[in-house]
Amino acid sequence: MEVVKEKIEIEEKVIMKVRNLKKHFEITKGYIKKQSSTVRAVDGLNFDVYEGETLGIVGESGCGKSTTGQLILGLLDATEGNIYFDSKDIAQMSQEELRKARRDLQVIFQDPYSSLNPRMTVEEIIGEPLVVHKIASGEQLRKEVLELIKLVGLGEHQLKRYPHEFSGGQRQRIGIARALALRPKVIVCDEAVSALDVSIQAQILNLLKKLQKELDLTYIFIAHGLPAVRHISTRIGVMYLGRMVELADRDELFVKPLHPYTHALLDSVPIPDPKLRKTHQLIEGEIPNPSNPPSGCHFHPRCSFATERCKQESPEYREILPRHFVACHHPLH
Ligand SMILES: Nc1ncnc2c1ncn2[C@@H]1O[C@H](COP(=O)(O)OP(=O)(O)OP(=O)(O)O)[C@@H](O)[C@H]1O
Ligand code: SF4
Ligand SMILES: [Mg+2]
Repeated sequence: MEVVKEKIEIEEKVIMKVRNLKKHFEITKGYIKKQSSTVRAVDGLNFDVYEGETLGIVGESGCGKSTTGQLILGLLDATEGNIYFDSKDIAQMSQEELRKARRDLQVIFQDPYSSLNPRMTVEEIIGEPLVVHKIASGEQLRKEVLELIKLVGLGEHQLKRYPHEFSGGQRQRIGIARALALRPKVIVCDEAVSALDVSIQAQILNLLKKLQKELDLTYIFIAHGLPAVRHISTRIGVMYLGRMVELADRDELFVKPLHPYTHALLDSVPIPDPKLRKTHQLIEGEIPNPSNPPSGCHFHPRCSFATERCKQESPEYREILPRHFVACHHPLH
């Protein structure tokens, strides 16, 4: 029994802790009559990321997924709250610690074409992080770049070519090789396969899984919908208007979704069992404006289960089953 307990603890080492994380953008509109408003892009996130896992983060456009990714990468400063990486608060890190953390935290974007410099060869693109961080030069640099391009399933003969000479899937492989150059611990994949054809998506997902095993990587995998994250995620968090509304182990979330919004998202997933299908409501209504969110539970204007309480009181995000977190007054058991 003790051996099992120890194994679970080893598997679940927390590599990143996010506490009460907020990012509010102040927006000013109009030349003569200036009007300002606050966009609550991220509005109080709490979650842990375990070493070696893939944490999927899903939600509709504008719910704050990319902003969360940027905060985790240290590319944006938080308005409030904390991010702990390897037990250290990123905001309290020294310059040297921050430089090291930036190497350990990398990103893969949706559109590798716009994130790869068209005037650089693949060799220069993949090697650039090693040059910038003064990690390798000359023959050592060439060796490392060659190793990286092979890791992502491309060949030496492709090193002297430019990004436009590659297909979308190949460009994403180049983006991945570049993200791996500094041997990071965590990679934020922001819609990393969303722009690719379905068959190519599967290849890139398989490559990411293979690399995760070989290089002990942790992924935070951001996407619009649940189907995209299903096959790669260990756990999945569902965001709505800057907040996490549900987070659970992947299978638990699909089999036992407790939040009405997760149910609505699942509705876009083909469900073979007609009995199950009946319980899945269609999501209705517009996504509210994050600078003027609805009172109480932000989801209440679109929720078929909303009560008077939901209009007034914001539901607490809590662990209502082991490892299963939900923010809802009336979770669907
Ligand atoms: N720099 C910024 N200034 C002002 N508002 C911003 C800024 N960046 C993001 N926002 C706003 O914050 C909210 C969250 O944006 P974010 O890009 O994080 O959403 P997302 O979930 O990644 O959306 P998508 O699925 O479309 O990529 C949106 O309302 C967006 O307009
Ligand atoms: S708190 Fe109320 S409105 Fe919000 S999701 Fe739960 S039932 Fe729906
Ligand atoms: Mg985004």
